[in-house]
Amino acid sequence: MDASAADFVPPMPPPVGRALSAFAGLLQARRDVLSIFPEDAYRRQVFSARLPGRLILVANTPDVVRAVFVTRHETYQRKSRFLEDALRPVIGGSAFIASGEDWAEKRGAIVPPLHPSVVSGFEPCFEQAAAELAEDFARAEGPVDVAVAYAAAITRVMLLAVFGPGVAREEAAEIARTFTAYQDAAEVVDLFGLIGLPDVAGWLTRARANRLAAEIRARVAALLAAAGPEGGTPLLASLRAARREDGSPILAGERLLDEVVMLLLAGSEGAAITLTWTTMLAALHPPSADRIAIEVRASKSHDYTRAFIQEAMRLYPPVAVLARQATQPDRIRRWRVRKGDVVLAVPWLLHRHEELWEAPHHFRPERFLGPQARPRPRYAYLPFGIGPRICAGAAFGMAEVRTFVTTLFQRFRFALAPGFTPRPNCRLALRPRGGMHLVVTPR
Ligand code: HEM
Repeated sequence: MDASAADFVPPMPPPVGRALSAFAGLLQARRDVLSIFPEDAYRRQVFSARLPGRLILVANTPDVVRAVFVTRHETYQRKSRFLEDALRPVIGGSAFIASGEDWAEKRGAIVPPLHPSVVSGFEPCFEQAAAELAEDFARAEGPVDVAVAYAAAITRVMLLAVFGPGVAREEAAEIARTFTAYQDAAEVVDLFGLIGLPDVAGWLTRARANRLAAEIRARVAALLAAAGPEGGTPLLASLRAARREDGSPILAGERLLDEVVMLLLAGSEGAAITLTWTTMLAALHPPSADRIAIEVRASKSHDYTRAFIQEAMRLYPPVAVLARQATQPDRIRRWRVRKGDVVLAVPWLLHRHEELWEAPHHFRPERFLGPQARPRPRYAYLPFGIGPRICAGAAFGMAEVRTFVTTLFQRFRFALAPGFTPRPNCRLALRPRGGMHLVVTPR
């Protein structure tokens, strides 16, 4: 094991001393979901909170995760109402939040163009966007907010992948900026709605969220119109070509727009956040970043780079909470689950569970490396989710993150900007509160 990394514990919010009441927890969760977990949440297997009229159960052990997300997928395939309501204004009824046959059909349309076997075809898009970002870093005077830079660069990848090189680079920055503002507005809105209380502030924020959603959709609709019915890339052609058994198109008109907007957003969010945390870890632990730079220059196999990224996603899973609602009654251990109750798997907790990981809060990329890697329980590492709804772009996402890391880490060193402290903050996704301000210098 690399002794230099073995004792490094990167930033995490302190656990609360004792469990909060359900209501206090809900208020707190509005600001940061991670801040509601008491210390024993990193040890327990299943625990619950009861809100008026609703049970929230946390599946915190591999066999229950497997039951909910895989074996009993039919019962738990619906995402939470909170997530559905937060995203519907911008991504419509697309595969990300659809359920039942509607979901199966849409999933069938988006999986082939993102399949692992075709991902290498997107490498030129990854390389172009990474090279453009490297030029920005080289020209930067003063600290860079890499969270903002990566959001724009990864949206750029998705625009290149869907529409091709004709789209202006500034378009990606605009869409990424608008989506971040949208999330800030949308993700706080509905926690009160969840328990049936009126939320006046929420209504005001919702109006702003709806305006931002309309702006994003109008931009993407304009790009689709400019591409014309035949234009765009093989990815877009594949979405348009998806057919039902009776020969009718699965995605046309608004439904095609929903799916393209969803791919731009879902496809950007996870990868940009992964890169942000990966780069923070490089800044906080320079010897491991040096090791990546050396590996990239010396060899074609990038095993340590891959392990570093996997460890970053273990410590900071971009989707830190996976939520499902029961569509019919069920029983989980001693809990009686009713229709509408919510079951969560919390990658943040599972990835740091004391019974599942050695030194769970330590940064140790070696745990994912070759002969030293201990076998992991299969349902305890879920950066891309699990079961039939597993991320449709996992291979694409891993490949683009790897291209950005290899391109940037061999050219630059990273350090925290003076006076800046990174703070993990989880609402819809696990992002750094206030951005990620780093000094970027050439190697
Ligand atoms: C490192 C990058 C990424 C991470 C960490 C990530 C993470 C996730 C996770 C955790 C889910 C499951 C959510 C749940 O079960 O509630 C998911 C779903 C999804 N992701 Fe990703 N994702 C990444 C990249 C991408 C990319 C590049 C695309 C598309 C190009 C994409 C498209 C999707 C879609 C369409 C779904 C919904 C699948 C369904 O419900 O059937 N993701 N992603």
